Amino acid sequence: MHDAHVNGVLQALVTNTPSIQGAAVIQADGQLVACHLPQSLDESRLSATVTAMLPHGLGMAAALECGKLEQLLLTGEIGHVLLREAGPQTMLCTVAKPNVQLEALLQASGSAASRISRILSSMSFLATPSSERSPQALYEASGFTEADQTLVTQIWPYIRTSLPSIVDRFYQTLEAEPQMAALLAGRAEMLKRVYLTWMESLFSGDYGPDFIRRQEDIGKAHTRAGVTPVFFAAGMAFLRSVFPPVLRASIPREDLAEDATGAVLRLLIFCQQIVDCKYTQTLLRLEKNVPKAK
Ligand code: HEM
Repeated sequence: MHDAHVNGVLQALVTNTPSIQGAAVIQADGQLVACHLPQSLDESRLSATVTAMLPHGLGMAAALECGKLEQLLLTGEIGHVLLREAGPQTMLCTVAKPNVQLEALLQASGSAASRISRILSSMSFLATPSSERSPQALYEASGFTEADQTLVTQIWPYIRTSLPSIVDRFYQTLEAEPQMAALLAGRAEMLKRVYLTWMESLFSGDYGPDFIRRQEDIGKAHTRAGVTPVFFAAGMAFLRSVFPPVLRASIPREDLAEDATGAVLRLLIFCQQIVDCKYTQTLLRLEKNVPKAK
């Protein structure tokens, strides 16, 4: 899946910059992540050459006290090859004709390399099971702080009576969309109870491993039931729109209502990230056709 995104960046690099003939993303161990190369260039020869060249470049940078190696430019009679760091242990290799403007080559490759680095790092974040990460790392990724955890727990007495009506509105919104309604058919009462329990758990004060596992279970249950990430994202978007006015109306102190609104929105992001990780792992497993571990 990330290959498709990286491919998109390579395609744009080659299409948008005159005289750039091709590009490839290669890991330090020689693995080719994605490539968009002219037919005349053999991808395995390119990745083998880059992998062989890299230690020399690293050695030279160290010996000449240049600091961490960021890029290597090779200029030959009939063209240039630019290697540029695109994340840990990953290089973007750009091949250009001799008439390329060097400044344009450096600039276009530099910005493609940073985009690729961002794509790869977000994919490796999503591909790691949430349960294998410390709760702390997950709080940091979503911005859900310890102060937020205290705030969310503190507002429980104000918000608890509003939750059943939020669940009703949430359910009505899902049912209004025919594709979602088909998935919900015949399970209204059961699912409304499930959603109320989940919403109450948001204010329970426990955001540790059990809470994280329960969010992962949502991803698993949804995958089983055919609830796609897009439907889930739509459900979450609805909740992000409905909570702020309800919090303002139910919490008497204005400053508390405002702080609590931010905390609840970050809590929803925290939950969504965990569920999305589960979805991503399922998709990656399907893509690689890897059998399920458990
Ligand atoms: C804010 C977004 C959503 C949240 C927080 C959420 C939460 C949950 C939870 C807690 C469960 C029970 C998981 C378990 O068995 O452990 C569940 C199951 C389910 N959800 Fe959602 N859900 C959301 C959005 C949606 C949407 C948009 C649909 C689609 C129409 C949907 C349809 C279902 C269905 C059909 C099940 C039952 C799966 C089964 O048969 O086991 N959910 N959801």
